[in-house]
Amino acid sequence: MTTKPPGIVILISGRGSNLEAIIEATRRGELPVDIRAVISNRPDAAGIAIARRAGIETVVIDHACQADRASFDAALQTTIDTYNPGLVVLAGFMRLLTPGFVEQYRGRLINIHPSLLPDFPGLNTHQRVIDAGREVTGATVHFVTAETDGGPAYLQARVAVRKDDTAGTLAARVLRQEHRLYREAIRQVAEGRIALDNEDRVILDGVPLETVPLLGTAVVTGT
Ligand code: GRF
Repeated sequence: MTTKPPGIVILISGRGSNLEAIIEATRRGELPVDIRAVISNRPDAAGIAIARRAGIETVVIDHACQADRASFDAALQTTIDTYNPGLVVLAGFMRLLTPGFVEQYRGRLINIHPSLLPDFPGLNTHQRVIDAGREVTGATVHFVTAETDGGPAYLQARVAVRKDDTAGTLAARVLRQEHRLYREAIRQVAEGRIALDNEDRVILDGVPLETVPLLGTAVVTGT
């Protein structure tokens, strides 16, 4: 018996390298999902062209053309729901979402953030990691809740900070790990291994997580 891969919708705002990594993984047969659409809140997002080249439907909902946050989220929700996805994936989606929107997709809305959450939520992450003198940073995939970058985390990758790192070099090294991490994190949802329970606990293979699992045990020091 063959089962249909779960449908996903991916939300972007910019470059789209995580989107590209997800597309490539599905092409290689490493990620059993059906990417039904890519939605951008910015008409100039480079990721839109990546999706189009891959033959994936794209939709732009320009936040600047919406009266307010609530109208934007309402339009976004209507569009997402036309694709009936099992999972909504934020991949560099730079808009804060209203609590009502987030609640609608509770347990099926995930985000990737370039730090070891709960440390360094928000913007300008890598510079803050360097300024704080951290020797290890990384990336986190988490379920989205109303608190920015604050929802339950379920997979992390660790990356060493080098003495001579700038925010740019560190961002590039973390980004390469993000691409591996998101692929694996999405696969866990697609395979039905990960879920969020009513008390906001992450359940992996039927057991509540006590700590956030790491992708690989090593701290990545090279590229
Ligand atoms: C990534 O670093 C992601 O963690 C953050 O925004 C960046 C998006 O990059 N949320 P890209 O658009 O996927 O290249």
